Amino acid sequence: MSSPALSDSPFLTACRRERPAHVPVWFMRQAGRSLPEYRAVREGVPMLEACARPDLIVEITMQPVRRYGVDAAVFFSDIVVPLKAIGVDLDIVPGTGPVVANPIRSAAGVSQLRDLSPDDVTYVSEAVSALTGELGATPLIGFAGAPFTLASYLIEGGPSRDHRRTKALMYAEPKLWHDLLGTLARIAGAFLRVQIEAGASAVQLFDSWAGALSPSDYRAYVQPHSAAVLGEVADLGVPRIHFGVGTGELLGAMGEAGAEVVGVDWRVPLDEATQRIGPRRAVQGNLDPTLLFAPTDVMTDAAARVLDAGAAAPGHVFNLGHGVLPETDPDALSRLVDFVHAYDPAETRA
Ligand code: CP3
Repeated sequence: MSSPALSDSPFLTACRRERPAHVPVWFMRQAGRSLPEYRAVREGVPMLEACARPDLIVEITMQPVRRYGVDAAVFFSDIVVPLKAIGVDLDIVPGTGPVVANPIRSAAGVSQLRDLSPDDVTYVSEAVSALTGELGATPLIGFAGAPFTLASYLIEGGPSRDHRRTKALMYAEPKLWHDLLGTLARIAGAFLRVQIEAGASAVQLFDSWAGALSPSDYRAYVQPHSAAVLGEVADLGVPRIHFGVGTGELLGAMGEAGAEVVGVDWRVPLDEATQRIGPRRAVQGNLDPTLLFAPTDVMTDAAARVLDAGAAAPGHVFNLGHGVLPETDPDALSRLVDFVHAYDPAETRA
C-alpha cells in the first residue's frame, strides 16, 4: 500500500492529470556516467554485474535523488537485464551498448527464449523493496524495454542505425515476427510486474527505436505487442509511461497502446503533442538534452518554453527528450531542477 504522502507526490499527481504543487521533474539516465559518484561505485564492476547487485542498484538509484532533489527515482538496471536473466548470451559493452552473441533470426532462435519468472530476478525485487523504504514519499519508476526495441537488439546483434535486419524479418516472416514480439511482450510484462509488486510506484516502457517505423507498420507489427505489455500490468493500478525517440508521427498510436503518460522527444512541442495524443493522457518531456551544454539563460529559456507548452497538456512531467548525455555537467542539471521547481507557468502569471 502506498502512504498518503507518496500518492500526493507531484509526480503521481501529474500522472493522474491532477494539478501538482509544482511541475515534477526527473531525467531519463539520471543515474549514470554523468555523475562522478556513479563512476566511483562502478569502478571495476561490469554493467551487468552492477545490475545484479542489490547494494549497488540501491546506491546508484539514490545518487541523483540525493544530488538533484528530482521528483522521482528511476530504477538502476537495463532493458536487456530480463533477457540476460533467461539465459540469452549478451553483454553491455561500454561506449557501444548491448551486444548479443548469437543474434536471433530464425524459429530455432525464437524457441530458445523462455518466459521470465520472478525467481530469475530476485535481485530486482530485493533492490526495489529496499529502495521504496529509503525513498519514502519519492516515487520509484520501474521500467522495461518494449518488444520492438528488444527485438532490434536481438536480431541485429547490437545497436543499429537503420534496423535493416529487424525490418527485413518483420516484412519477410510476419508469423515468426509476431511469435518473437509476443514472447518479448510476456518477458517485458513479467519484468514490470516484478518491479510493481515489489513496490515501484510507476513504470516506463521504453520503445526507444520505434521512431524508425512508419505509422502503418507501427500499428500492424508493433503496437499490439506494446499494448500487451501495458495490459499485463493494467490491474496493478500504477501509472504507465510509454516513450520512444523520433515518434512524432506515432504519438497518437503510442497513446492508444494504453499508457496513462506518453513520453515525447524534443522534436514536437508538448502542446502539439497533446493535440496528437488527446486529452486522456498526460505527457512527459521534452527538453533537448544538448541544451544542458548551452549557457544557463539559453537553457532556462528553452525550459520555460517546454513548461508553457506542457501547461496545455492535461498533465505534465518535465524530463529531457531523451537520456542525459554522459558528458553533461551535473551542476547544469541541478540548475534545471531548481528552475523547473520555481517556475510559475504563463497561465498563472499576472
Ligand atoms: O535512466 C536511468 O538512469 C536508469 C537506468 C537505465 C539504463 N539503461 C542504465 C544504463 C535505463 C532506464 C536504461 C534503458 C535503456 N538501455 C534503453 C532505453 C532508454 C534509451 O536510452 O533510449 C536502451 C536503448 C538501453 C540499451 C543500452 N544500455 C544502451 C544504448 C547503453 C549505452 C551504451 C554506452 O555505453 O554508450 C546501455 C548501457 C547503460 N545502461 C549504461 C547505463 C548507466 C552505461 C553503462 C556504463 O555506465 O558502463
